[in-house]
Amino acid sequence: MDSTTSNGSRPIGVFDSGIGGLTVAAELRRLLPQETIYYIGDTARVPYGGKSQATIERYSVEISELLLAEEAKMIIVACNTASALAIPKLHATLPVPVTGVIAPGAKAAVASTVNGHIGVIGTRGTVRSGAYERAIHALAPEMRVTSQACPMLVPAIEEGWLENDITDSIIARYLGPLVGSGIDTLVLGCTHYPLLKPALARFLGPGIRLVDSAENCAHAVRELLIQQQIGAPENAVGTLRVALTDASDGFLPVAEEALGLSVGNIRLAAVQR
Ligand code: DGL
Repeated sequence: MDSTTSNGSRPIGVFDSGIGGLTVAAELRRLLPQETIYYIGDTARVPYGGKSQATIERYSVEISELLLAEEAKMIIVACNTASALAIPKLHATLPVPVTGVIAPGAKAAVASTVNGHIGVIGTRGTVRSGAYERAIHALAPEMRVTSQACPMLVPAIEEGWLENDITDSIIARYLGPLVGSGIDTLVLGCTHYPLLKPALARFLGPGIRLVDSAENCAHAVRELLIQQQIGAPENAVGTLRVALTDASDGFLPVAEEALGLSVGNIRLAAVQR
């Protein structure tokens, strides 16, 4: 049995602070239907967005260990905050390949911009870390990057207010200055934000392109599977398994409906708070 076959049946481990990372799981299911995805949402400790680096690193290692116990052949950090703050720690700690959402999003943004001015929106933790600026400048040092933390957007999305005048006002308040600054590309630097794509596009108009980090992450995973020769056989039929660290909340049905995903039976995975 070669390495492709022996690893092929093992799941791809995916985690997020909660349910928002299902945007990444949905893209992975679309692009790689032969792969089984084991997703853990750390709903017991969400949100990660305002927590310290040391805490996010600890949480990320703990959740990754739960995924390794499920035989994960690679770990996808489907959370921008954890990608911004914990990837070096995970690379140093875990025995399997690790990828996050920031490097693929940065690459897509650099490919998308024409005027060289990129906007980034995310949680406070992601924006404060400067991770997108570093990733963009590593590829193209001449790029101008303007970032904006949007802490009110996650609660609005979790409330299911995807098409709602209050959400539209929040978007206008956060994004007005970004639009005024002259960006032509906006990176959705939080796993929840793809659910707001129609509302964001309506506010931004056709002159600003949206870069969805979930979509670009899925493409990066496909490349990594090929490079590491750990992909499932093309004719395999993958599934999505979901575990949460606390009983689900009202956001799960919102995400399932918006993403066209059915997550079936949810397991519980225990963590220390
Ligand atoms: N998943 C987080 C992210 O992508 C957003 C929610 C949270 O703050 O935990 O940054």
